[in-house]
Amino acid sequence: MTGSPLRLGVLGAGTIATVDYGILPNLNKIRNKVRVVSIADLVIERARAAAEAFGIPMACASLDELLAGPETDAIVNLTPIPVHGETSIQVLRAGKHLVTEKPLATSMADADRICSLAQAAGLVVVCAPYNMLFPDRLAAYRLVASGAVGKVAFARVRSSHGGPAAGTWPYDPSWFYQKGSGPLFDMGVYGIHEITGILGPARRVVAFAGVTEPSRVVRGGPYRGRTIEVTANDNVLMMLDFGDATFAVVDGTFNVNAGRGPKLEVFGREGTLNLSGAPWAGEGPVLEVFKMDAVNELRGWVTPSLGEVNQRMDWVLGLHRAAMVDHLADCLHYGLDPLLNVDHARHILEIMLAAEESAQSGCAVALETSFSLPTELWWEAGYATTHPEDAGAALASLASVTDAGATATATTPTAHEHGVPKK
Ligand SMILES: NC(=O)c1ccc[n+]([C@@H]2O[C@H](COP(=O)([O-])OP(=O)(O)OC[C@H]3O[C@@H](n4cnc5c(N)ncnc54)[C@H](O)[C@@H]3O)[C@@H](O)[C@H]2O)c1
Repeated sequence: MTGSPLRLGVLGAGTIATVDYGILPNLNKIRNKVRVVSIADLVIERARAAAEAFGIPMACASLDELLAGPETDAIVNLTPIPVHGETSIQVLRAGKHLVTEKPLATSMADADRICSLAQAAGLVVVCAPYNMLFPDRLAAYRLVASGAVGKVAFARVRSSHGGPAAGTWPYDPSWFYQKGSGPLFDMGVYGIHEITGILGPARRVVAFAGVTEPSRVVRGGPYRGRTIEVTANDNVLMMLDFGDATFAVVDGTFNVNAGRGPKLEVFGREGTLNLSGAPWAGEGPVLEVFKMDAVNELRGWVTPSLGEVNQRMDWVLGLHRAAMVDHLADCLHYGLDPLLNVDHARHILEIMLAAEESAQSGCAVALETSFSLPTELWWEAGYATTHPEDAGAALASLASVTDAGATATATTPTAHEHGVPKK
């Protein structure tokens, strides 16, 4: 890629900013595309420590200071869930492109505001999760859309882990269990993102939700032994209605300490599609399809050869969450619509808010928002092979990064993308 690297400001210097599977340790793999010029955290010592560790010229204590500091093209929002909405609105008002952690916001009013500000100012918003960048998810979309499993009856998506208190979080994980956050926003968001990415917008939601236990004890890390009061529902099960008798079940819970079998299954009239959820979840081939008429009217499992997909997986997984920043840089440089787009993120938020409403009322809740993804474009172009001259250099730089963590992640993706070890 030619031209000056994108100038980034990073908001929040906590776990996802600094861990090996997070943003800052992986940005050096795309230093031809992006450069971090400033970082802010309400806890200034964290911003300073990250600035020193990652060679960032300026550390500051607030978003105001970040925006008043060195010129930036985009801000990466890595704050806790309850403040995403207000901080992202401030970023867009300042005329900056945005990469934000999930969810987009916690109210539809904030999500609508983010969409309208971005549209009015021609700003690009890339919102986590980033799973639809994974080529196996794009392949699943393509297979389902082309009728490989026939008319879809239902899908089942496992979306959760055991919660940050079950792992070794470097910072106090209490806020994940408290009102305004919770596993629906933290984890359910992944499965909703994946299944709506594959099947398209949902129309209705029905859900159950509750608190499994009123308190949790942190099992590892510096906060081991701390008791957390659980005020958010830590156990949510949702059913989505896509219309035309197509349904999906998705969990958003801090109660999946272990799980086997595929992460995502799509059951159709002509077959079944499985995604193992590699590399963080499930078992079995990355992608497999059961066909009712696989060969001469005989049924069976087909495990496609995924050579090209695997190569692209290496690229995305090697970048970990910095893949979202890479995506923003590509979208801006080549004038592409993001695959991780803001309308999709708003639809996902609407589903989660509807799930909470349904769990309270006991009724199904109709959805109003919709989205479309440039899925075909990204499949045809091939993520990181959009411009082969860049992809070749980029893959080479992934392989040649010399620090131990980065080299390991380029070839052997971590088993704890969300901070909880794979069982
Ligand atoms: N930790 C993970 O493994 C992980 C994985 C995927 C996604 N995420 C997402 O990343 C986001 C952050 O999670 P985390 O685990 O890094 O949390 P964290 O608590 O470790 O870090 C958040 C940081 O943001 C700072 N902060 C809070 N409000 C701020 C504000 N207004 N301005 C500037 N700084 C502010 C805090 O002081 C803290 O240092 C969340 O949306 C979470 O869902 C985290």
